[in-house]
Amino acid sequence: MEQFDAVIIGAGAAGLFCAAQAGQAGLRVLLLDNGKKPGRKILMSGGGRCNFTNLYVEPAAYLSANPHFCKSALARYTQWDFIDLVGKYGIAWHEKTLGQLFCDDSAQQIVDMLVAECEKGNVTLRLRSEVLSIERDEQGYLLALNGDSVRTPKLVIASGGLSMPGLGASPFGYKVAEQFGLKVLPTRAGLVPFTLHKPLLASLQVLSGVSVPSVVSAQDGTVFRENVLFTHRGLSGPAILQISSYWQPGEKVTINLLPDCDLNAFIDEQRNAHPNQSLKNTLAMQLPKRLIEILQQMGQIPDCTLKQLNVRQQEALIELLTAWQVQPNGTEGYRTAEVTLGGVDTHALSSRTMEARDVPGLYFIGEVVDVTGWLGGYNFQWAWASAWACAQAL
Ligand code: FDA
Repeated sequence: MEQFDAVIIGAGAAGLFCAAQAGQAGLRVLLLDNGKKPGRKILMSGGGRCNFTNLYVEPAAYLSANPHFCKSALARYTQWDFIDLVGKYGIAWHEKTLGQLFCDDSAQQIVDMLVAECEKGNVTLRLRSEVLSIERDEQGYLLALNGDSVRTPKLVIASGGLSMPGLGASPFGYKVAEQFGLKVLPTRAGLVPFTLHKPLLASLQVLSGVSVPSVVSAQDGTVFRENVLFTHRGLSGPAILQISSYWQPGEKVTINLLPDCDLNAFIDEQRNAHPNQSLKNTLAMQLPKRLIEILQQMGQIPDCTLKQLNVRQQEALIELLTAWQVQPNGTEGYRTAEVTLGGVDTHALSSRTMEARDVPGLYFIGEVVDVTGWLGGYNFQWAWASAWACAQAL
């Protein structure tokens, strides 16, 4: 039976990086994945250009039942460390917006870099590999794989969350946690588009493709300023993906479609200058015309001139466009979600090493853990940082 110093399950972002670090430190590492190739989500990420980190990484950008947990790892392996590594491989990158760093060329460069780092560490990578069972005894862990069995004193679970089952996502990591008595917090899809109830969807569907810079708020007071995109299923765009992680079923979200305009003053000013101008044309100076037309068809915007608009109507209009209350029907779920909220309860893990406090030699890193970042490179930075922290301890 083969013996390794460490076995890492999941050759995604966290697993590849952890394996590379541990291998380069001289450990004999086996990295297993059930897929045909490593880093499948990395390849898909950032529209194929991988938003690999964010200049403004800070613990406040992460959701977790234990908000302090991510601090240690994020402070010890920072965005600057990963940017350095990317630089060593000559990978050109650019900041797109809000500190989000993307490859100029392709996400494949990040996967190639991680694989090269693994090769430097003589990591054994086994793809299409199923873990049939895991047993623990005094000598460590015994893994039955399809084909053979391996032994190791250190087992790292880096199998990710449930989002995008088409890319190999599985509840494997949660099952391992439960097998060894660790608590798994309820999971749900995060960074995911909203679906809408039928009548509202039927009206808004024709706006599919229209994008509006907005400020979106959740009921808990969390606010994001980004674009809202109308789709044929509901609402998407970065502002909606961000707020979806803070939304609970049944709640409303509030959308300010005109965050940079004092609408009251604008209407008054236009009314003084052009009293016979239609309200529709006036609003179309600030918002996409199609959106105004649809809201008018829905009876939400009066069909009148500016001088005909009365005080009550103007107040209602301002409320609609700056504090539009939308109650999503739900989300598109794991099928399109970028991440999974919840997961292995961090209270059971060491924030320094990611090791399970009561199960020596068992580690959880990356998305399988109850740490979920905002959209914009934060989730990869958690994968790199948690993987690095774990590798130092192996
Ligand atoms: P990851 O999912 O990367 O890897 C887990 C690995 O485990 C997979 O290779 C899987 O095949 C393997 N596995 C699962 N079950 C197994 C089993 N039973 N046996 C063996 N192997 C198993 N984040 C970001 O910061 N910037 C971005 O641009 C994007 N973009 C993006 C786009 C899309 C479409 C998605 C779905 C997600 C993103 N993300 C993102 C999120 C990011 O991809 C995610 O947070 C990280 O990949 C998580 O890294 P992990 O290594 O934890 O899991």
